[in-house]
This record gives sequence, structure tokens and C-alpha cells, in this order.
Amino acid sequence: MRLVLLGAPGAGKGTQAKKLIEKYSIPQISTGDILRKAVADGTPLGKEAKAVMDKGELVPDKVVLGLVEERLKQDDCKNGYILDGFPRNTAQAEALDAILVSMGAPLSVALSVDVDKDDLMKRLTGRRTCRNCQQMYNIYFSMPKTEGVCDKCGGELYQRDDDKEETIKKRLEVYEAQTAPLIEYYSKKGILKSIQGIGSIDEIFEKVCSVLEGR
Ligand code: AP5
Ligand code: MG
Repeated sequence: MRLVLLGAPGAGKGTQAKKLIEKYSIPQISTGDILRKAVADGTPLGKEAKAVMDKGELVPDKVVLGLVEERLKQDDCKNGYILDGFPRNTAQAEALDAILVSMGAPLSVALSVDVDKDDLMKRLTGRRTCRNCQQMYNIYFSMPKTEGVCDKCGGELYQRDDDKEETIKKRLEVYEAQTAPLIEYYSKKGILKSIQGIGSIDEIFEKVCSVLEGR
């Protein structure tokens, strides 16, 4: 399965992707996670990306496309993958199509997870992430057993720099202007599926699996 997860910031793309990895044994490719790792490692790419990410804007297409193309050619993507947070605009979607044509393996499905703006704000301001394994928690909806500590690996939980209210507003605007048009893009290609991302994480996962398995 070669899957694109579409959805606004906070829709739960990363949360659902982590569950899909376990169920289908395919990797998650999150451009946001790759960029945050580059920032944490202090690489030249990370230094360039940080300023843009902190403003809630998109990192240049050329940079992101290079990262994705390299990642898609790795061995663990042979049986499929979950693209999370990529593509982010029409130029990235077209470039992805061209890469996949050259690899002879087009996308199977683009799944859009739809969530109201008020819920998105609460999910994002309450999010905490493990520095070590990237597991997500939420101080409103899914607290870790011990405050500030990951249940899975004992790593330290942190709040993302771009999860401040002003930056979240900008990210939501960028989503509406640049990423939401991809719903139409994939609909025209006949591979779009949509679900409402409301309910518990497990309830949504059940809906995701039903749609992906055509149940
Ligand atoms: P990225 O990391 O992709 O962030 P995003 O798209 O803004 O999405 P999020 O990760 O914030 O949300 P999510 O949908 O994954 O939600 P999550 O599962 O965490 O991008 C960050 C930045 O990097 C961009 O702004 C840009 O600068 C740059 N970038 C990345 N990709 C790029 C690209 N392709 N091109 C250019 N620039 C790029 O869930 C959120 C919270 O809600 C969590 O706390 C979770 O526990 C909670 N939650 C999840 N589901 C539920 C539920 N059902 N009920 C209650 N709480 C829930
Ligand atoms: Mg995410």
C-alpha cells in the first residue's frame, strides 16, 4: 500500500500513521519529523528549515522533494509506505507523481482526515511528543502515565516550537491555501478517500482500516 495521509495540522496524521506502521509493517515518511530531526542535529538543512518552520510556513519544495525522493528509494519502502505531511502543495504532488512514474509504482490511495478548526487548536496546543521515539501524547486527551515521560520508552516529552497559538493560526492558513486543494487533486485522479477524524484515536483507526481495506 502506497498511501498519502492528507489533513490539517493536528488532524491526527502522525498518530494514525504510527498505528498503521504496526498493523501493515510499512514505514511512515513524515517530512515534518525528518526536518525536526535535522533541526535537532543542527545540520545546515536544519538551520535553514528552522526559521521557516517556526513561522509556520513551508520549507522550499526543492529541499523537501530531495529528502522524499531519497527516502522512497530505500529498501524498506518496497512493500509500500505512509506519506505523512507530504505532499503539501500542488507542485509537490506533481513532482511526487513524476518520481513514482519513474519508479513504476503509483500511489494506491490518498486518505483525507477531516477535523473541525476548534478541535485542531486544542489538539495542537495540548500536544506533547517524545524526543526519543516521537510517540505523541496530549495533555487534554491522552496523558502519559507519568507527566513529561514517554510510556513507551521513558524518553522526555517536549512541546513543539511551532505549537504556539500564533504559529498554529499561520499553519492552518497555509494548509487552507496550499494543501487543501490536494483533496480535489487526488479526487480527480480517482484515488481519494475521506473520513471524519472525530472520536477516539482507536475509533478513527478502525475507520481508517475499513476504508483502506475497502470494508
Ligand atoms: P508537520 O510535522 O507535517 O506538521 P503538520 O502538518 O502541521 O501536522 P501535525 O504534525 O501538527 O499534525 P498531525 O496531523 O500529525 O497530528 P498528530 O497526530 O500529531 O510539519 C511541520 C512543519 O514542517 C510545517 O509547518 C513546515 O514548515 C514543515 N514541513 C513539513 N512537511 C513539509 C512539506 N512537505 N513541504 C514543506 N514544508 C514542510 O495529533 C495532534 C495532537 O492531537 C496530538 O497531541 C495527538 O495525541 C492528538 N490526537 C490525535 N488524534 C486524536 C483524537 N482522535 N482525539 C484526541 N486527540 C487526538
Ligand atoms: Mg504530524
